[in-house]
Amino acid sequence: MKLPSLKIGNLTAPIPLIQGGMSIRVSTSSLAVPVAECGGIGIIGGSGVPVEELQEDIKKAKAATEGIIAVNIMYAMKNFYDLVVGSIEAGVDLIVTGAGFSRDIFKIGKQYNIPVAMIVSSPTLGKLAEKLGAAAVIVEAKEAGGHLGTDKPLRTLFPPVRDVVKNIPVIAAGGITDGYEMAEMMDKYGADGIQIASRFVLSKECDVADEFKQAYLDAKKEDIVITTSPVGLPGRALRTPFVQALAKGVDLTAKKCQHLCLKKCDHHYCINERLNASRTGNLQDGLFFSGENTYKMKSILSVAEIFRQFISQAESVYKEKRGFSPST
Ligand SMILES: Cc1cc2nc3c(=O)[nH]c(=O)nc-3n(C[C@H](O)[C@H](O)[C@H](O)COP(=O)(O)O)c2cc1C
Repeated sequence: MKLPSLKIGNLTAPIPLIQGGMSIRVSTSSLAVPVAECGGIGIIGGSGVPVEELQEDIKKAKAATEGIIAVNIMYAMKNFYDLVVGSIEAGVDLIVTGAGFSRDIFKIGKQYNIPVAMIVSSPTLGKLAEKLGAAAVIVEAKEAGGHLGTDKPLRTLFPPVRDVVKNIPVIAAGGITDGYEMAEMMDKYGADGIQIASRFVLSKECDVADEFKQAYLDAKKEDIVITTSPVGLPGRALRTPFVQALAKGVDLTAKKCQHLCLKKCDHHYCINERLNASRTGNLQDGLFFSGENTYKMKSILSVAEIFRQFISQAESVYKEKRGFSPST
């Protein structure tokens, strides 16, 4: 059966598939535009880049597609509000936020008439986000790449959030690798759509160095681990020499902070520099965020091929829409 569209606020994505935001410069307009062109929601990772650079990239994306372009900004960023307002002024369609909970973001959303989707990892936060005016919640489970707000697997975490969030779309994120799992989350669990990220790192259009993609392709199950982050949350990443050194307790303290990017930073290393190192393919020093199931994906495809694969697999088993049905 054909997949339903995904309505978030005043926006309608023909395909209920969101490409998760990936900082720093992992998901740029190069990736977000083809995703939007395929009918999904393309998200530019907005954390850790200068506001002007982010604005330029949003404008570039908006000029290149009529599809939906969103920005993902972590609440943990010191310049969170500048990034949010700068993105809105640059013409972004949707704000996605997580890694902390901002109540004020909903006021900004209302003020500028722009939908806000909140990444949540508990029913309590899901319910609160809806009450405060979120246009959607993204339930991100422990299988996700990057910073994690829970140790619960998706199929355990999702149902209680779905139960309490009544009137806005609920999106499933973390560890989804194919269209069969997409259909499962929508059919069996009542998700209104899914968000995937690691699959899109393994796309031709993703801007990271070839070494980054090769590290994903080479990763075995045991190479994808939980590590620490100066943000104060656990993070899921590839077990590179840097992550191994962290685990051994080697002192990697960033003594002279060049970036002052986080509201609260414990400086046990510089996340900005380590993520930039991964993007440029530095296997020794880089922090390569990765979802738990990256080891299952063994091909680099174009974004259009990923969409075709997900849609055909999902529609071959998808039966009925069980999620939120907007009345308008
Ligand atoms: C390389 C990478 C960077 C990420 N950066 C961010 C980020 O900046 N902000 C955020 O909210 N989530 C971030 N995430 C999480 C994704 O947006 C997404 O929700 C999650 O990875 C989904 O799981 P999957 O990768 O298994 O599909 C990142 C994930 C990866 C793999």
